[in-house]
Amino acid sequence: MAPLDSKSSGGEPGVWKSGRGRGRRLPKGRVYSDEGLAAVRALLGDRPRRRDLLIEFLHLIQDAYGHLSADHLAALAFEMKLGQAEVYETATFYAHFDVVKEGETPPPALTIRVCDSLSCELAGAEQLRAALEEGLDPGQVRVLRAPCMGRCDTAPVLELGHNHIDHATPEKVRAAIAAGDTHAHLPDYEGFDAYAAAGGYAVLKGLRAGGDWEAVQDSVLAAGLRGLGGAGFLGAQMGLCAGQSGSALSGGEW
Ligand code: FES
Repeated sequence: MAPLDSKSSGGEPGVWKSGRGRGRRLPKGRVYSDEGLAAVRALLGDRPRRRDLLIEFLHLIQDAYGHLSADHLAALAFEMKLGQAEVYETATFYAHFDVVKEGETPPPALTIRVCDSLSCELAGAEQLRAALEEGLDPGQVRVLRAPCMGRCDTAPVLELGHNHIDHATPEKVRAAIAAGDTHAHLPDYEGFDAYAAAGGYAVLKGLRAGGDWEAVQDSVLAAGLRGLGGAGFLGAQMGLCAGQSGSALSGGEW
């Protein structure tokens, strides 16, 4: 258990101190193993331990081990100097992270997520999922439901590992598994530099150069932008934030 050493206790072996006073024999929350901490440090390498990289680090662990163990989550919290609750809440918020508590069995190495939203259900996702559950070894492959994957025009859709399969069939899935084709296929998309060089974000740059946030707000409100979550609230957010002192990070769209 890593914190119980003379280094972290300021010289007193076996007592963990936060650096703000009295020591206690154990850190708050779950403890982690030396092996867990070494594994997390090996994955993170020399990346800065910035809190905004938490999700990226969770992906590193998930991809390396196929799940997020309680040991690794506790070690990651320690390594990043974050509260364990903060790391756990983030890990359990996203469906693509598999948090495995002490004593639980990790999931199989391969997961198939079958979209069960409207377009895919109309295109036979229920039957597809049933056929996959019957035809694949549950010890090797896990079949789950998942919400819309944004590919409704090619329903039914599923995700095999990180590989999205359009117009999915059991035959396509079996062929992809046999070929080990479980990684994402990135399209040849236009990158930020090319987009900006071709005039992209010109309006934004002009507004920023003008330094008039009210003009920015007026433009956003006039554009009638609407979206999920905070995007529907976007123009008002700007006014509210401008009325506050200090700095803050906003979740969501801006
Ligand atoms: S409904 Fe399945 S991808 Fe949108």
